[in-house]
Amino acid sequence: MRLPRPRGPFSEHVFAQMVAREPTATPFDATAVDVLADDDVQIGLWALYELSYRGFEDVEDDREWSPALLTTRAEIEEAFERALRELTAPAVDAVIGEPARTAEQVVALVDGDDGPPLAQYLQRKASEEQYREFLVHRSVYHLKESDPHAFGIPRLDGAPKVALAELQYDEFGGGRPDRLHSTLFARALEGAGLDPTYGAYVDVVPAPTLAVNNAMSLFALHRRLRGALMGHLAAFESTSSLPCRRYSGGAARLGFDERVGEYFDEHVEADAVHEQLAIRSICQRLVDQDPSLHRDVLVGTAACLRLDALSAHQMLDAWEGGASALLPDDRQEVA
Ligand SMILES: [Fe+2]
Ligand SMILES: [Fe+2]
Repeated sequence: MRLPRPRGPFSEHVFAQMVAREPTATPFDATAVDVLADDDVQIGLWALYELSYRGFEDVEDDREWSPALLTTRAEIEEAFERALRELTAPAVDAVIGEPARTAEQVVALVDGDDGPPLAQYLQRKASEEQYREFLVHRSVYHLKESDPHAFGIPRLDGAPKVALAELQYDEFGGGRPDRLHSTLFARALEGAGLDPTYGAYVDVVPAPTLAVNNAMSLFALHRRLRGALMGHLAAFESTSSLPCRRYSGGAARLGFDERVGEYFDEHVEADAVHEQLAIRSICQRLVDQDPSLHRDVLVGTAACLRLDALSAHQMLDAWEGGASALLPDDRQEVA
């Protein structure tokens, strides 16, 4: 993958520093932007995080640890984390109680979430084009499915570590490369006539979808936020099984190649199991070991739910207005 297209002066400067001989930090004024919704900031942050995953062909690998780039990243992260804590505070405050009942509080957050009915829409109403757009949005995460949460493994110990490893073993194929969930999703993209290449669609997904991904990386790349990372995982797994049944139904209704439905079918049963592992064996056991992580677990859960809702709203609002939920792709390949 090559660096994405910049979306404004901030990302333009960040991307220039990634390839500069001597990078400098990029000035960032947190008071001037809505960090959760700003395309320029979110694509800049997404690319900075990508240096810790697969990187870019046009950026040297050791730029992952460039002090100047890390300074820029830290400034955005401070504003991003603050925005996520503010966004989730009402929901977290409403459920937080005894640390010994963390599992119930995570469930209460999930049950109390009033995200828009994206899954129902895809099951019953979406056009082929809209369904493809949904897959494009999701591809940013699912082509590196579970990679962010894998950063949690060396940061945990004992029972929650064992449970996370068990869950991740499924996500990473259960010993079979052809069953890697990211590979299953690549096959679903192919089945829908889309490009399965890692990073192929980063340029066309708008800020809310990048924010969904960036929140995972924020929690993943800071050991301090391991509670939020595991709370995020719990929300992710507990809001997957029923929607996946609906996504699969939508793929069948539209007559997509069976590879599309297969990806979602795989998650109907697997995520019903993962939900229990993530809530009870990971989040509850982690807080039992270290009660200081209690609030962050709930913040991670609520952040996943709220950001998914913002992304779903963006898609549904666009479609209901007769528009595309993607950004125009003005970087045409030169043949
Ligand atoms: Fe999965
Ligand atoms: Fe899962």
